[in-house]
Amino acid sequence: MKRLVVMASGNGSNLQAIIDACAEGRIPAVVTAVVSDNSDAFALRRADAAGIPAVHIGRRPGESRADYDARLADLVSGFDPDWVVLAGWMRLLTMNFLGWFPGMVVNLHPALPGELPGTHAIERAFDESRSGTRTSSGVMVHLVADEGVDDGPVLATAAVPILATDTVDDFETRMHTAEHALLVSVLHALCSQIHPITHGATA
Ligand code: GAR
Repeated sequence: MKRLVVMASGNGSNLQAIIDACAEGRIPAVVTAVVSDNSDAFALRRADAAGIPAVHIGRRPGESRADYDARLADLVSGFDPDWVVLAGWMRLLTMNFLGWFPGMVVNLHPALPGELPGTHAIERAFDESRSGTRTSSGVMVHLVADEGVDDGPVLATAAVPILATDTVDDFETRMHTAEHALLVSVLHALCSQIHPITHGATA
């Protein structure tokens, strides 16, 4: 069984999809810890409910990003992960963190490669559809090789249409459903070692 550390800042619906898939044998892995930069993250409650260590690590007043990331890396490496999964982790990571986990950090983002990096990608895609510049968006899972924002070797993508009848909530629900399926399928492949991507390789 592979060991996953999941990092999440908010609701944790993707974390829940991972927990459920591990419990049901759809991902041959155990979640050894859930780490959040946000003490109020519902993701921490989901981890507690599943009996998984849930750790909040906040940035201290005056602490540099580099020092925070070194502390974060120390914490995460203590759980001995095979893969570090960013599932709604909303803080940029520096090489002080990433350098500890070469080719091992997987990020989920609610947009297709090269589109809408950063926060609120779902709402921004929806707004673009309403101003007539977009009819679909998508979700992607990629490796995090460096400090680029929502950028790196792509592992998988799925397109998601934006329907004329959609409210933003309808579209968001469809995006999250696509994310849950894509992330579980990528982690299944990575943890089963049937995917052509290996640690340190590019797509
Ligand atoms: C997801 O849509 C994820 O793709 C996004 O945060 C959401 C977390 O949802 N991540 C990013 O935007 C990264 N730039 P969740 O907390 O319900 O899993």
